[in-house]
Amino acid sequence: MNIIETLRQAFAAATPEGGEPAAFAAAVRPSTDPKFGDYQANGCMGLAKALKKDPRELARVVAAAVDLAPLAGPPEVAGPGFLNVRLRDDWVAAALRDLLGDERLGLIPPERRKTVVIDYSSPNVAKPMHVGHVRSTVIGESLARIFTALGHEVIRDNHLGDWGSQFGMILWGWKNHRDEAAFAADPVGELARLYRLAQSKIQAGATEVEEAARVETAKLHEGDPENRALWERFMPHCLAALRGVYDRLGVAFDVQLGESFYDPSLADVVQDLEVKGIAVPSEGATVVFVEGMKAPLIVRKQDGAFNYATTDLATIQYREETWHPDEVLYVVDHRQGDHFKALFAVARRWGYGRADLEHVAFGTILGRDRKPFKTRDGDVVGLESLLDEAVAEARKVVDANSPDLDPEQRGRVAEVVGLGAIKYADLSQNRLSDYVFDWDKMLAMNGNTGAYLQYAYARIRSIFRKGDVTPESVRDRRPAIALSHPAERALGVQVLRLPETLELAAGELKPNILTDYLFDLANKFSTFFEECPVLKAESADRRDSRLALCDLTARTMKLGLQLLGIDVIDRM
Ligand code: ARG
Repeated sequence: MNIIETLRQAFAAATPEGGEPAAFAAAVRPSTDPKFGDYQANGCMGLAKALKKDPRELARVVAAAVDLAPLAGPPEVAGPGFLNVRLRDDWVAAALRDLLGDERLGLIPPERRKTVVIDYSSPNVAKPMHVGHVRSTVIGESLARIFTALGHEVIRDNHLGDWGSQFGMILWGWKNHRDEAAFAADPVGELARLYRLAQSKIQAGATEVEEAARVETAKLHEGDPENRALWERFMPHCLAALRGVYDRLGVAFDVQLGESFYDPSLADVVQDLEVKGIAVPSEGATVVFVEGMKAPLIVRKQDGAFNYATTDLATIQYREETWHPDEVLYVVDHRQGDHFKALFAVARRWGYGRADLEHVAFGTILGRDRKPFKTRDGDVVGLESLLDEAVAEARKVVDANSPDLDPEQRGRVAEVVGLGAIKYADLSQNRLSDYVFDWDKMLAMNGNTGAYLQYAYARIRSIFRKGDVTPESVRDRRPAIALSHPAERALGVQVLRLPETLELAAGELKPNILTDYLFDLANKFSTFFEECPVLKAESADRRDSRLALCDLTARTMKLGLQLLGIDVIDRM
């Protein structure tokens, strides 16, 4: 059950005359301080001002009218007109007891099931994946898992850049500088070398290389047999290399419809836009002018070639016709903001405005020097070596902290902790901000890190091992939950907040709302564990009640981390 939503509905129904129920309900928030109860309804002050009434008087009227049963009694009027809601202990205890037998931890199917397409990862193949791709992959995967857990239908689409100018660069490299033996031994490595070679020449001002690469791209698009054959030869290797990274990150797509997939429809897209008077000729190109934007969206270049934007328009059309999505999320670097703004405006004019198109933007990963993150030797960090480094760094921490585990176990722990650290560091940031990549910080066992949460989980598992009890047996006994200590109550209420947290994270498209929640959960568990003996509780009933809280916390932690794409381990 979503507690805040239930309270909001009750307050909406008790909105004073002259007020707007939706706005009044939206002013219900979790309390910032437990002194003020669990939730607060803050709508009376603003409304009193608009209606020229006394806010405390208005709050008293609402307090008398609102029916919060069975969750809470009448709210308390406080300060200038706040309404403080304290959940009833007996209701909290009963709700927790119900959760013990609920595999879904209180998540119920949505009133309306949405179809959500998530366009994420979407690297340019044949160019080595780098650290920047981690953000799109990790954020997109987490959003996909959160929407799925909430009962929505999710289509995970890896919109691969498999048709762009980087292929022209590789084709030029292949024709002029290939090393067949190197390709046979390590195809992707050789393609990456050729790409870098072309790139460095172009960067050094070799316009003839740039032009030659452009011609190769154009020939590929025109259907030149040699270039098409090479493309078909290279692609499987590129895809296999990507799959290796995705497997390791626990990412699986429903579809991988790259740019090449849309190539056959691009001419029709532009023609349709022209017929409808949306696209117009301009300086030899075909463009769409967008209100409020300096540059128009180019859909056919002067040389006749279609581009990234044309492909994205074809993609919008295909997705609409294939899945009729309610939402399409583009998890892409913030630097593409203008592209998406223009793209969405054009799509709406074109008649594809039904779905909610959202650019889920994110900032850049920086090194400790606050410049885009590089390895020690100055390379942009390749994704695979980054993952290896994460595991190696985690291994050092595990070796230091868990000498009692055997080396093989430590290896497994290091893999889970290392990958978890990278993901968690990324997800726990507000995605719009840049963040500094720092191994020490992200592997710290204390603080808002993946390792700290994984450790909290493992610690709970060890309580059960020590007590020689299984969580299943506690669940079967369905003990009454006692909330006599404030730490028990605080932990229990936090557990009950999972559904509203996930709704909020999905609504705002921000996994960091979930990481904050889990960090809070771990801290509340820590206080509980310090203050309330579990295995040595004063009675068998109390022991069972506390074990039940432990089990609920562990399951919430495990599910929460899983929705971030992070695994847990039983021993750390
Ligand atoms: N391949 C692009 C890049 O690496 C990202 C594609 C994002 N998705 C989209 N539909 N444009 O910059």
